[in-house]
Amino acid sequence: MGKMSISDVEPANAPCAAQQAPASPWPRSRLPVAPVLSLASFARGGRRHVPSILDAPHRRFVTSGRVAIALALRAMRVGPGDAVLVPSYHCASMIEPVIWAGATPVFYRILPDTTVDLADLASRLTPAVKVLMATNYFGFHQPLPALRAFCDAHGIRLLEDCAHSFLGEHAGRPLGSYGDYAIASSMKFFPVYEGGCLVSARHALDGVQLQSAGAGFEAKVVLNTAEDGFAYGRLPLLRMLLTLPMKAKTALWGRIKARRTADAPALAPGSSDGGFGFDPAWLDKRSSLFSRAMLRLVSRRRMGALRRRNYQRLFDALGRLPGCRPLHATLPDGVYPWVFPLLCDAPQALFATLKGAGVPVIRFGEFLWPGVDATVCANSVDLSRRVLQFPCHQELRDDEIAWMIAQVTNVVRANDGGAR
Ligand SMILES: Cc1ncc(COP(=O)(O)O)c(C=O)c1O
Repeated sequence: MGKMSISDVEPANAPCAAQQAPASPWPRSRLPVAPVLSLASFARGGRRHVPSILDAPHRRFVTSGRVAIALALRAMRVGPGDAVLVPSYHCASMIEPVIWAGATPVFYRILPDTTVDLADLASRLTPAVKVLMATNYFGFHQPLPALRAFCDAHGIRLLEDCAHSFLGEHAGRPLGSYGDYAIASSMKFFPVYEGGCLVSARHALDGVQLQSAGAGFEAKVVLNTAEDGFAYGRLPLLRMLLTLPMKAKTALWGRIKARRTADAPALAPGSSDGGFGFDPAWLDKRSSLFSRAMLRLVSRRRMGALRRRNYQRLFDALGRLPGCRPLHATLPDGVYPWVFPLLCDAPQALFATLKGAGVPVIRFGEFLWPGVDATVCANSVDLSRRVLQFPCHQELRDDEIAWMIAQVTNVVRANDGGAR
């Protein structure tokens, strides 16, 4: 797949539910839906240790969260004839690796606040079930000690999906440390074009051997990360300095593309360019040097503090708008949110108008796996329809958040007035 121009689609590192196909009907967001690189990304941000999945002793850095799920399933020897318990509130990139492994996804229910429905979970157990996948939605943790106990009691493995919870702790332990394995999606938290992590606090990852994806990939990651920043007015000096090299790169890329045959391998995974699918060609590929360096250099303290602060600002401003309420009543200590989830009574009109206005609104779980309907889990269907999410990441500027709040407020009030 060739590199799409940054104005064609949402930022390349948009979260899966927010990722638009190339033919997106929406204009580009006026502010970045996911973190973009700026000088501020490297500011220190205090002294307090912010727990994260990187506290786990065993770690592998790959190109996306979905690849990390597939590697975790492989490490647990999940294959044909096995079943994996997966939440009925999900996006396709959580389920595709299960299908790739040859296993059957068994969808379990969740409660209205996205907590795992433990009674339903127990009712879905069969001898074929090997793994429970549990997601800490939007950065808010599941009842992890209970899930760990459930898995231990029934002899199954726990895969902790920390795609939304790179940072955080529960009951004195970092998220990601309860699972046999845990995965994360670096792109949702760090200003990087690609990246995912597979970690384990319990098992060595010696069997997971990764290879470089090549010089073209490494170069593309740096350039695309920089371009995403430039597109939103970050790093203006660097942008000026790189004007000529960037032009040369665009010309060169045009020539390379013209010569590439249709079956030539892609330089970067589809997960970075807006795709929902899982491409096994990226299974054993190491994350770029650049993304791995960013994971070390970008301050997790600043990230954590600003995410909480921005979330609270959105909570205060949007939480009491007519027909809307925050999905979670509070922001507990130890939670470092991915986004601010808002439960809306009239989500369809709101979503379309906001997207049309360039507001970076996200709908995680908008498209549930075929067959997952209200008979499987009415709460999931309701959440998939009614929860809109707004970014609260550390790279949003105060004026951008103010603009987003004003847009959402105006649209909600106008819709409310029209409905009366
Ligand atoms: C809950 C959850 N798990 C896993 C994934 C897969 O992550 P990635 O997009 O990095 O492959 C996503 C993607 O958005 C997700 O939302």
